[in-house]
Amino acid sequence: MTFRGGKWKIYKLVIVFFIFTTFCLFAVYLLQNKPASFDLTAEFSNEDTSRQFKILQNNEFVLVFVHIQKTGGSYFGRQLVKSLDMKKPCKCKSGRKRCNCTRDGKIWLFSRYSTGWACGLHADWTELHECVNEKMNKIEKDVRKRSYLYITNVRDPLKRYLSEWKHTQRGATWKDSSLLCDGREYKDFIQKCYEGENWMGVGLEEFYSCSYNLANNRQTRMLANLSLINCYNSKLPKSEIDNILLESAKKNLRAMAYFGLTEYQIESQFLFERTFNVKFLVNFLTINNSRADRAEISSKDLEAIHEANELDFKLYDYAKELFFKRFNQIKKDYFMKTGLKFKPIKSIINNTILEEMLNDYGSDEDDVNAKKKNALSLLKQMKRHLKVDKHIKKKLKNFQETD
Ligand SMILES: *[C@@H]1O[C@H](CO)[C@@H](O)[C@H](O)[C@H]1NC(C)=O
Ligand SMILES: *[C@@H]1O[C@H](CO)[C@@H](O)[C@H](O)[C@H]1NC(C)=O
Ligand SMILES: *[C@@H]1O[C@H](CO)[C@@H](O)[C@H](O)[C@H]1NC(C)=O
Ligand SMILES: *[C@@H]1O[C@H](CO)[C@@H](O)[C@H](O)[C@H]1NC(C)=O
Repeated sequence: MTFRGGKWKIYKLVIVFFIFTTFCLFAVYLLQNKPASFDLTAEFSNEDTSRQFKILQNNEFVLVFVHIQKTGGSYFGRQLVKSLDMKKPCKCKSGRKRCNCTRDGKIWLFSRYSTGWACGLHADWTELHECVNEKMNKIEKDVRKRSYLYITNVRDPLKRYLSEWKHTQRGATWKDSSLLCDGREYKDFIQKCYEGENWMGVGLEEFYSCSYNLANNRQTRMLANLSLINCYNSKLPKSEIDNILLESAKKNLRAMAYFGLTEYQIESQFLFERTFNVKFLVNFLTINNSRADRAEISSKDLEAIHEANELDFKLYDYAKELFFKRFNQIKKDYFMKTGLKFKPIKSIINNTILEEMLNDYGSDEDDVNAKKKNALSLLKQMKRHLKVDKHIKKKLKNFQETD
């Protein structure tokens, strides 16, 4: 009898435990599905603002970089393959653009400088979600469990737009982007704003006046789930399309493991390092885009650019708010743990690797000379002013190991 009684007690415990767990799961479910509000003063959930993934410790993690044109992605992409302070982050051969980024034989980075444009030139969120897993299986010749961590850079829409205009003016087109959506390539479906090979020499007014110019609201479109509007073929009224795209882009940005803001390199680096528990050997650089910065824009043009990029301006405001929520949260946690002061510029910097990265810029890069000159002058300044603070370096290293 006592044996049965004991067993019955265990049953009771199990039942109570089961009910309690169900209740908890239900509560979590309710909390997660509470209607989201999208106004700018919206509260972000803890999950939106506090994310940490130890990419070194878990082979399932694969970073997927959504590289939006003219957001500083080339430099950032090089940082990822060349300057992460981890054991053999990537194997790079000099003269080769792409590096072999594997950890225990498993690829941990899906990006231009590792896997190449495996899902198409500047593939967007929609294309990557349709393509990455299949591609990874192919490249690794292995079907395994992976956890994809999406990352991207978002930039001030005016600066980005002017930069794309200047780039187009010099002859760039990205017409080879496949624009895959729901299994179909829309590359040849979309009308071009120019006749002939490219749009070389285009004026600003002509550029923004083309209503189907893919530069317009590029960031929103490239971060949204385009399936929601039936891809590039939508019959919905414009206001509805706009609304769906913007809300989708915001949602996807919130779900990203990390995104940086091109205007805030120091903060972006810090956020990246804490999010993924890694350090960079070369600090993020603010590379002045002299051409775009110097362009003098009339107020009429400014107004028109705003109108043509309304979604991107709204998205950027939202991104900034979310970014600084994440940054401040992670900064607070970090300093509570380490007792260190925020000295990002003076922490680990390795000029050798920076130089290597800069020498790597090929001749097909846009604006390459301006960038090189810019960064090399910065490098000289740094050599003069920067001494690695050994005390901080040691402390950071120890912290990393025990964290
Ligand atoms: C990349 O490195 C891994 C591990 O060292 C190796 O197995 C693989 O063959 C390499 N791939 C290429 C394309 O070099
Ligand atoms: C994108 O939206 C479509 C349509 O609602 C949905 O079926 C699909 O799962 C979404 N894609 C992703 C990756 O969430
Ligand atoms: C910088 O990186 C290079 C190559 O990895 C290494 O040989 C050198 O010791 C590093 N310098 C510093 C100051 O850490
Ligand atoms: C970039 O521009 C800013 C503002 O014009 C200037 O203060 C900074 O020194 C420039 N950076 C470089 C590397 O030239």
